[in-house]
Amino acid sequence: MMAIRKKLMKLILGLLLGILCSQFFTISQIAIQDMCISKRLSPLDLINEENLRAQNKNLLFVGIMTASKYLDTRAKAVYETWGKEVPGKIMFFSSEFSYSEHVPLIALPGVDDSYPPQKKSFTMLKHMYDNYIDKYEWFLRGDDDVYMRTDRLEHLLRSVDSSKPWFIGQTGRGNIDEFGLLSLESDENFCMGGPGIIFSRESLKRMAPYVEECLQNLYTTHEDVELGRCVKRFAGISCTWSYEASSCDCKMQTIFYHNQSGVDAFTGDLKQKEVHRAITMHPVKRPEYMYKLHGYIKGLKIQTNHQDGIYLHRDIAVSMEQLGYSKDRLHKVILVKNLPLYPSKRGNDEYLGDTNILGTPTSLNRYTPQNLQDVLVWELISKTLYSHKDANPKKRMGSSLKEGLGDVTREMMDIINSYSKQRGRIIDFKEILYGYWRLDPIHGVDLILDLLLVYKKYRGHKMTVQVRRHAYVQQTFSDIVIREVNQNKIVDTFFDENTQQNLPVHKKLVHHLISKIGRNFPPLFNLINQEEPVINFILPISGRYESFRRFLNMYEEICLNMKERTKLIVILYKKNNLINDFVSSKYLIEQVQKKFSYSVVNVVYRNDDFSRGKALQYGVQELKNDDLMLFIDVDMIFDRNTLQRIRFNTVKNKTVYFPIVFSLYDPTFWNITYINKAYSYFDSNLINQRNGFWRQFGFGIVSIYKNDYVTLGGFNLKISGWGYEDVNFFDDVVNSNLKIVRSTDPGLIHVFHSEVCDQVSDVAQKNMCLGTKGSTLGSLQTLQDFYMKYKRYFR
Ligand SMILES: *[C@@H]1O[C@H](CO)[C@@H](O)[C@H](O)[C@H]1NC(C)=O
Ligand SMILES: *[C@@H]1O[C@H](CO)[C@@H](O)[C@H](O)[C@H]1NC(C)=O
Ligand SMILES: *[C@@H]1O[C@H](CO)[C@@H](O)[C@H](O)[C@H]1NC(C)=O
Repeated sequence: MMAIRKKLMKLILGLLLGILCSQFFTISQIAIQDMCISKRLSPLDLINEENLRAQNKNLLFVGIMTASKYLDTRAKAVYETWGKEVPGKIMFFSSEFSYSEHVPLIALPGVDDSYPPQKKSFTMLKHMYDNYIDKYEWFLRGDDDVYMRTDRLEHLLRSVDSSKPWFIGQTGRGNIDEFGLLSLESDENFCMGGPGIIFSRESLKRMAPYVEECLQNLYTTHEDVELGRCVKRFAGISCTWSYEASSCDCKMQTIFYHNQSGVDAFTGDLKQKEVHRAITMHPVKRPEYMYKLHGYIKGLKIQTNHQDGIYLHRDIAVSMEQLGYSKDRLHKVILVKNLPLYPSKRGNDEYLGDTNILGTPTSLNRYTPQNLQDVLVWELISKTLYSHKDANPKKRMGSSLKEGLGDVTREMMDIINSYSKQRGRIIDFKEILYGYWRLDPIHGVDLILDLLLVYKKYRGHKMTVQVRRHAYVQQTFSDIVIREVNQNKIVDTFFDENTQQNLPVHKKLVHHLISKIGRNFPPLFNLINQEEPVINFILPISGRYESFRRFLNMYEEICLNMKERTKLIVILYKKNNLINDFVSSKYLIEQVQKKFSYSVVNVVYRNDDFSRGKALQYGVQELKNDDLMLFIDVDMIFDRNTLQRIRFNTVKNKTVYFPIVFSLYDPTFWNITYINKAYSYFDSNLINQRNGFWRQFGFGIVSIYKNDYVTLGGFNLKISGWGYEDVNFFDDVVNSNLKIVRSTDPGLIHVFHSEVCDQVSDVAQKNMCLGTKGSTLGSLQTLQDFYMKYKRYFR
């Protein structure tokens, strides 16, 4: 199952502002009535939009100005991303004699690639006018470093009357120093070139015949300024971004988005409100980031589609209920003869999902617990997170929760502000004062947030005031998505009836999952036959024969018999007071070596004072720089899956794996008949609250490549006696460039072994020893039972 990282559930960002109008703790008395809105299209809107699309693909002509040196890079990237989705036509315009196999190109006669591209720009517009003026409604002049969200652009353009003269873009008047030099009248402006400039057919018609004249009367070297001047002179209009006449409710100041970061713009995190709101984005200087941005925008689109899908499921559920059908039987409903409501069954490509689940309306009661255990528990969000799941309830807020809250608030503010223009007010998000969240495993995430907002009224009686509001938000799960991220080696093959081919076994697993889950997806398998690295167990041992015997038996069973790629290095201490243990252990090792081969166990004999750090160091010395090492303890029992996790989680020069092991309590404390040998082999049934606990503060079991260990400087060898070197080492890794993989490992169990703390002289070590001892006595439940039983002996 490790082969399939189960990012099974994909949160859709579809969030719904639920009941928001009730009176909660409001600081001000302003009622924000319009927060109770939803941002959905009615089914009729959807149909109309589809019809329009089908009717008219002659909406827009896009002309991209580029230069011959960018044809195979920037221009190609534009053409292969958003250029493919233009509701009309896209053409690239470059200097005379340029040539490209990748993009539809017009090499403009008499034009070179010099900068500023005034001649190129004007000549391009003339070309559009001469060849296409009657074929398209709108004309866009763009650079080769702009990204356009074509679906939104289409929506915007369809809402504006193209028979009127329009000159649309991000308005510029130059900065204050420049203004005097631009030779603009005080009422003149221009559309800035970068984020794109749009002409309606009418404005191009008026201006294009005069481009020669404009080119002969240039006042500056700014191409966009001169374009603006020419448009003003011959079409009689300025750059517009306030569409009072249009029905579009977009925020005009943000839809032509120019980022100031230059080459670095759009190379970092794209999860920003500017990116989410924009229709055009500029500048995307490096082509690889054009593809990345396109992928990101597609992802947003997928989320929107998921959300629309959820709305449709809800509409169907409500309608069918009104018609008298029960929700859990919808998959069987036949509307009229031969017309089932859902033609495709679970497991087919066309399967539309389970309306019984996806159609559940938003409500804090959409999940009904059947008994006390099933009641969903809320966690409190404030500066930190308070969680019932942890013995230590106050936790740092994880990055996934933080990101999720960021997504939610961003979307929520967009919804709240989507009618800002009509209402003459804008509401800004300040912070989440506190909130609660819980996970409903079937439907999604529920959030209750107490928000601090700033309400700014800019029309009528102007005011700015802070308000506090409660928001009820639900993020709904959509369909299950499986993503395979691991490149596993092919172990075996099976014969697939459908394709008549031999397929590797883990494909069979995926097929099995598909049949269970009912979703087909394209094959994503990238199988690389990689040799698994050898895991070198390093095991120090002094005395402890019985435990060692258990360990070696288990090692033989799991590693040697199974032909796992592992090696064992034992650092065996010879102590006069424990000479029997030494002799028996040595004998045991020799038996194993005889049975398999001498190379399977490597022994280092020592007779100096025992210290774990030093002992491990002797083991490390036996290895080569490239070797993968596992520092293990004789009290550990493990299963085979752990070996795989060690290999995955330890990456050379990258990660160090510190598994959190399950530590068994002291059974003799409460069970007199307990015999130590009972836990000879790994048994996952041992893992429960009564038997033990996850040793969050133990760092002794580590896997790391030798080279990384050496680079870190290894253990602090000055520490002798009872542990501590591991905590020190963990700190070193935290402070290094290496990443720590820290997770509970369900295949690693630490068998109880009583600690003797009396001889520990160092105070810090002694306290740690006693702490460990105390925490391994028994579970809270056990201790409580014990106390109740023997209460009379306690005072
Ligand atoms: C836009 O520029 C700002 C400041 O230069 C930067 O912090 C931000 O990350 C940029 N946004 C994008 C999407 O690149
Ligand atoms: C290890 O990784 C660092 C960056 O994380 C890199 O600078 C260094 O060159 C790498 N060393 C080796 C030997 O690969
Ligand atoms: C005590 O230990 C013995 C032997 O391991 C086991 O059979 C028995 O079930 C245990 N008793 C309890 C109450 O767990």
